[in-house]
Amino acid sequence: MSEMANTDPEGIDAVRMTWNVWPRTKVEASKCVIPLAATIAPIRPHPDIPTLPYAPLRCRMCSAALNAFARVDFVAKIWICPFCYQRNHFPPHYAMISETNLPCELYPQYTTVQYTLQLDPNNPSSAPQLPPVFVFVLDTCMIEEELEFVKSAMKQAIGLLPENALVGFVSFGTQAHVHELGFSDMSKVYVFRGNKEITREQVLEQLGLGAAGRRPTAGYPKGLQNGLTNSGVNRFLLPASDCEFTLNSLLDELQTDQWPVPAGHRASRCTGVALSVAAGLLGACLPGTGARIVALVGGPCTEGPGTIVSKDLSEPVRSHKDLDKDAAPYFKKAVKFYDSLAKQLVSQGHVLDLFASALDQVGVAEMKVAVERTGGLVVLAESFGHSVFKDSFKRVFKDGEQTLGLCFNGTLEINCSKDVKIQGVIGPCTSLEKKGPNVADTVIGEGNTTAWKMCGLDKSTCLTVLFDVSSTDKSNAPGVANPQLYLQFLTSYQDPEGKTMLRVTTVTRQWVDSAVSSEELIQGFDQETAAVVMARITSLKMEMEEGFDATRWLDRNLIRLCSKFGNYRKDDPSSFTLNPCFSLFPQFMFNLRRSQFVQVFNNSPDETAYFRMLLNRENITNAAVMIQPSLISYSFNSLPQPALLDVASISADRILLLDSYFSIVIFHGMTIAQWRNMGYQNQPEHQAFAQLLQAPQDDAQMIIRERFPVPRLVVCDQHGSQARFLLAKLNPSATYNNANEMAAGSDVIFTDDVSLQVFFEHLQRLAVQS
Ligand SMILES: *[C@@H]1O[C@H](CO)[C@@H](O)[C@H](O)[C@H]1NC(C)=O
Ligand SMILES: *[C@@H]1O[C@H](CO)[C@@H](O)[C@H](O)[C@H]1NC(C)=O
Ligand SMILES: *[C@@H]1O[C@H](CO)[C@@H](O)[C@H](O)[C@H]1NC(C)=O
Ligand SMILES: *[C@@H]1O[C@H](CO)[C@@H](O)[C@H](O)[C@H]1NC(C)=O
Ligand SMILES: [Zn+2]
Repeated sequence: MSEMANTDPEGIDAVRMTWNVWPRTKVEASKCVIPLAATIAPIRPHPDIPTLPYAPLRCRMCSAALNAFARVDFVAKIWICPFCYQRNHFPPHYAMISETNLPCELYPQYTTVQYTLQLDPNNPSSAPQLPPVFVFVLDTCMIEEELEFVKSAMKQAIGLLPENALVGFVSFGTQAHVHELGFSDMSKVYVFRGNKEITREQVLEQLGLGAAGRRPTAGYPKGLQNGLTNSGVNRFLLPASDCEFTLNSLLDELQTDQWPVPAGHRASRCTGVALSVAAGLLGACLPGTGARIVALVGGPCTEGPGTIVSKDLSEPVRSHKDLDKDAAPYFKKAVKFYDSLAKQLVSQGHVLDLFASALDQVGVAEMKVAVERTGGLVVLAESFGHSVFKDSFKRVFKDGEQTLGLCFNGTLEINCSKDVKIQGVIGPCTSLEKKGPNVADTVIGEGNTTAWKMCGLDKSTCLTVLFDVSSTDKSNAPGVANPQLYLQFLTSYQDPEGKTMLRVTTVTRQWVDSAVSSEELIQGFDQETAAVVMARITSLKMEMEEGFDATRWLDRNLIRLCSKFGNYRKDDPSSFTLNPCFSLFPQFMFNLRRSQFVQVFNNSPDETAYFRMLLNRENITNAAVMIQPSLISYSFNSLPQPALLDVASISADRILLLDSYFSIVIFHGMTIAQWRNMGYQNQPEHQAFAQLLQAPQDDAQMIIRERFPVPRLVVCDQHGSQARFLLAKLNPSATYNNANEMAAGSDVIFTDDVSLQVFFEHLQRLAVQS
């Protein structure tokens, strides 16, 4: 496919679709097996996107923004909206418009444009420059060493913040402590009991931000512009440059939680109360603007709301088996608590970031809803001293080249042609419950709406939008009237400098009568995007549908797809071939079945939640690597080259570099490891060997530099204990002869771990069955 061959398959729009040609009717769409879906990175930067210093014209009928696909009558000064065909007059300031004098948004190549929105267009300086806001919420129930690691990471972060960034600080253990930073002579702390749910009003009352204290100065950004008159802001949220010293000395003095922990018990840790208090503080001081709660958590919540496990150490934290058997007594209640926290944060426009570092689980599975619904960042590591945490955390705050480009207060709205319906969105957002004619009856993910809130978003944030076609009757099918369909994505957000931006991406695709010919449909299939979308839907179904059998569902869909689009003679497996547009897809499904997304029992619920949050928010290239890792082979006498994801790629005189997104493995073949142990690389006559050893290291570092969260790097040798990190991801071709027989007539290819070859053989047999 031409789009796949391109190095930047997303182009200026950052949009990819499972199908780039759309079937006309609902029936035809369902026969395509793989759903109609678009992934979009709504604010991905691109050098060709123009920034326009005015607001877009809107269609007076459907409010779609003027775009490159509008038909323009230059004489009558009219544009026709491609969504609703409404004729719109250009306003007077477009009077100069002509074929040779087009505004930027009408250039055919600018299907994506962005607008800087200012309060007063005549006075650009009137736009408030909103400072970013960070409330650090720090767990103190840790061993001394871990607390030192996390304190030093926090100090470094505060040093990296822009001077005007507002900073707040909450620490917690048995109780939650809100530190008043505007009180520099001595530290003043507000203490909250950890064992009781606390209402928003109680939080405010206790902080002296109750109705009386708050009213006169509420309102942001006005309060800020008037010189920080909001008393809560003055006391608890200070510019980084003003409070750096106070915070640093506070951190120096901060000790691990001093409450005694009886033998055989877990520390009493009130993560839920601490987060409630932080959310209440931000809600009172800075509602409706970009602020993030940065939670640094070193263990499970055992106290008060959000508890995930009892304090008794003989009771382990819930496993997937427990969740499956409904034997996790704290789970549902904790999720409900974090769900209501998510709702509060979304209504305030605030983000929850979670940095969890511990050997055991801390409750990422329960907190997932609050992180994902608010568009928060999440990093899961073994220790606050590990590079996965340290380097990722630094990157959140570091400016310059490596910046994540953290943005706030995003809203995505989607407009589409009449017969296109939106089922929902999978990814870091929350439905704004805005109904419209384009809302589908079936809901997938955040649905029943045409608008979504993204409290936090950044330049790599990616969403998946699932569509349906409404037309059932061919005679009034949309293609008859117009051969093209249109989708418009409007994203407004506050950029890292505090400016309000609106990005408008308008894309078009062709309708095709697939009942007549499927050739065009086939040519428009994007197998990489399709694989990722299937992984996202599978993960969602595993979470939402009780007893969902993911392997069976994937197999059934793959067989249906191959039956529909393969070339074969009925009942003759050897005649089966697949068009190149589909040929990589079965292998993606093979690897998806074996991946951490489907084989969840190999991981903890925290890890699964973590993997899924990143699967849902990363771009297609990265998400595809999570499903099907990339493998590169390094050897003498040849350039580094892609290797088959198969045990047969292992060889004594090769180095392999495996990228499975969350970890990167450098694997030395036996001979290479021996030479290295003998120090050949240090001898001048073996320079080539030194270079061979170095090359995968350099390539690994290049990947690590680009990626957030920073992946774990594993360097290992053939037959070493760490080699399992590579072996677990490889196709077990060497053992395929022990695969057992398939049940006749079954729609499941195999439930056990089979080789790719056996998988293909069974797939062909089942696909050609009449
Ligand atoms: C946040 O976004 C909403 C919806 O787009 C907008 O109405 C509001 O003014 C924004 N808040 C700020 C402070 O920019
Ligand atoms: C476009 O989006 C706006 C806002 O969500 C909505 O009111 C309108 O009905 C939509 N129009 C179409 C044609 O989708
Ligand atoms: C969609 O929203 C409507 C109106 O708010 C509600 O009645 C309906 O149950 C919702 N549908 C789904 C599937 O959530
Ligand atoms: C996907 O994200 C990575 C960064 O994580 C970036 O290097 C790459 O260019 C992105 N791919 C596309 C197609 O945007
Ligand atoms: Zn319109």
